[in-house]
Amino acid sequence: MSVVGILAAAGRGERFGAHIPKQFLPLRGIPLVIRAARCLQEAEAVAQIVAAVPPGYQELLQRWAEEYGVQKLSRIVVGGEHRQDSVRAALETPEVQRAELVLVHDAARPFATAALVERVLQAAQRHGAAVPGIPPAETIKKVAPTGEVVQTLAREWLRRIQTPQAFRREWLVAAHAHARRLGLSATDDAALVELLGFPVVVVEGEPRNLKLTTPEDWRVAEALLQAEQ
Ligand code: CTP
Ligand code: MG
Repeated sequence: MSVVGILAAAGRGERFGAHIPKQFLPLRGIPLVIRAARCLQEAEAVAQIVAAVPPGYQELLQRWAEEYGVQKLSRIVVGGEHRQDSVRAALETPEVQRAELVLVHDAARPFATAALVERVLQAAQRHGAAVPGIPPAETIKKVAPTGEVVQTLAREWLRRIQTPQAFRREWLVAAHAHARRLGLSATDDAALVELLGFPVVVVEGEPRNLKLTTPEDWRVAEALLQAEQ
């Protein structure tokens, strides 16, 4: 199984609201993008990493990869307007074109373990597409624009979906091409694969695999790291 990891690190971090994109800020001394890259670096099955960054950040990431020992980072591309565009830019690189499986991970998730990467890859090898998910702890309701409840969803069938997500390369490439042709957009890669009609399986995610979106998430992440010391 040849696996290439794609690190989606080209967002602007608007909800976070810092002067630079959040993934380039130090999280307890280590840049968030490096912490997320290490999730891929430390997974044995991942041979190479392709990162997408905002315009102007290629050199900085290259320098950090050397400094922090992310040796598998073999290419850095400039991402696009939306996450989907950034992943597509990475998919077009020769590294990815040679891979059997592609593993896509968000630079905003610093806590994914090598065991999770392994679990997702094994399921993708078997089924073609796999994503980690965890059951929601809260009741989830569908609400109308008026604020009125439309439906209370059966919690046992709901999952909060995380990254890393793994796909047969041809499926992911076809899904992105299809979405582009039809002007479809989605917040994760699996949704694009689903739109094409391919099955996506959910494996057990990790409660600690938080996505850092707001300053509050950042404080939780700092506290987790501090508690670990
Ligand atoms: N991302 C990307 N390219 C984009 C937008 C997002 O590679 N054009 C990446 C982000 O860098 C992040 C991941 O996709 O690692 C998930 O996105 P999110 O947490 O929404 O980050 P941002 O888009 O940067 O934040 P915001 O939506 O608040 O601007
Ligand atoms: Mg975003």
